[in-house]
Amino acid sequence: MAAKYEMIMSVIKQQVANGTIGPGSKLPSVRMLADRFSCSKNTVIQAYSELEKEHLVYSVPKSGYYVVNEYRSPHDELANKKVDFYSAGPDREAMPYIEFQHCINQAIDIYKEELFSYSDRQGFYSLRLQLIKYLQNLQVFTDPERLFITSGAQQALHLLVSMPFPNGKRNILMEQPTYFGFIEAVELQNATALGIERTMKGLDLDRLEYMFRNNDIKFFYTVPRFHNPLGHSYTNEEKKQIVKLAQKYDVYIVEDDFLGDLDPNPRHDPMFSYDPSGRVIYLKSFSKIMLPGLRLAAVVLPKLMIHTFSRHKFSADFNSSALSQGALEIYLKSGMFQGHIKRIKKLYQRKMKLLQEACDIHLPPGASISRPTSGFYLAVSLPEHVKAGRMADLLLRANVYVDDAVRMFLPEYRQENMLRLCISQVSEEQIGRGVEQIARCIVFLQGKKDHFHSRPSLLL
Ligand SMILES: Cc1ncc(COP(=O)(O)O)c(C=O)c1O
Repeated sequence: MAAKYEMIMSVIKQQVANGTIGPGSKLPSVRMLADRFSCSKNTVIQAYSELEKEHLVYSVPKSGYYVVNEYRSPHDELANKKVDFYSAGPDREAMPYIEFQHCINQAIDIYKEELFSYSDRQGFYSLRLQLIKYLQNLQVFTDPERLFITSGAQQALHLLVSMPFPNGKRNILMEQPTYFGFIEAVELQNATALGIERTMKGLDLDRLEYMFRNNDIKFFYTVPRFHNPLGHSYTNEEKKQIVKLAQKYDVYIVEDDFLGDLDPNPRHDPMFSYDPSGRVIYLKSFSKIMLPGLRLAAVVLPKLMIHTFSRHKFSADFNSSALSQGALEIYLKSGMFQGHIKRIKKLYQRKMKLLQEACDIHLPPGASISRPTSGFYLAVSLPEHVKAGRMADLLLRANVYVDDAVRMFLPEYRQENMLRLCISQVSEEQIGRGVEQIARCIVFLQGKKDHFHSRPSLLL
């Protein structure tokens, strides 16, 4: 049985939660409550001081006890918190912020000279040596001469779009949908962009062959693992076939392996490993697994392209940030990086599983999802007449942020019934509530409110 002071606490909490006692109101005096609950004044004082510790009430000397102005029960707190399936930066809780701060401080000391001048346009040689070792874990075996450090993967993509390729071809082929930043890089540079549909089931290899054979393709941009926005990954066999076709038709592949480090299956190979001689240009961003603010990525190029890429990189920004490079190098050397990757691998795998479980429980028939084993993104394919843009607007009112993914398509491939859910910045506790809201919203837009027994309360 609860102690008397706990009973008093519970009654007051109930009255505050149901609005009987409003924020800022004065609470009954100690004597009144002692009479009402037939207890000593000390018991009431104990109840009030416990409520004070929970920040539900405060005391004013010689006046009494009051309800705090913005009290919300822990349950409400959770219900009102933003559920962010939109932002795609790394999970803040998982970032080794303090450890990395030490690395930055050390980098200022160690790389003083590099800060006072311009440094190697290809990136610090010592960092490239560390990266060569690191990339071996991902089955990417190369040498420091073929590796460039760029200011994010975005810069590498921008430069690859702008520069000529040894095959002398002109057009760029990309999966549809694809990473929005790449579409922007191609469109703003007036390159000819061609698309090939990629679905949750993959790619039509016959269509790919047709495109390679007939369309003067300079390179094919692909995100083979944990695709943005689909979350889909190719099998090893599919990757092999794609590389084979590229060899046959003299097409380059730009392999954006931005989340490859999170792959729980060590047998999954990057495309690079199927043709390390240079047909595949390998790209590894440090934004998702470390910090986007570092602006660092590594790109492995065929020998034939090093000279041209070097000129383009120099003309863009001379060199990437010396401070970021120095800090990353120290972090890699210390061994902390491997530990960090191990931790985040588990974290994102767990979150992705939770998200899929919640989708299986809540989403109505007619909606389907991709099934990534990890990564950041999961795509929800909405029932035919449910528009993703309208859903994103409605969900905002329930403080649930989702991405309608429309900008991730070239105009001729545009689809309006796909949602991209990103798990990186949503907390594990919020995933279920967020998906429940998404489900309510789908049902509401389908005009089938009876799927849920209650009204979609937070939405309307
Ligand atoms: C698939 C993909 N590639 C590249 C990037 C850009 O990476 P960076 O921050 O290294 O420029 C992103 C950013 O979201 C991405 O999703």
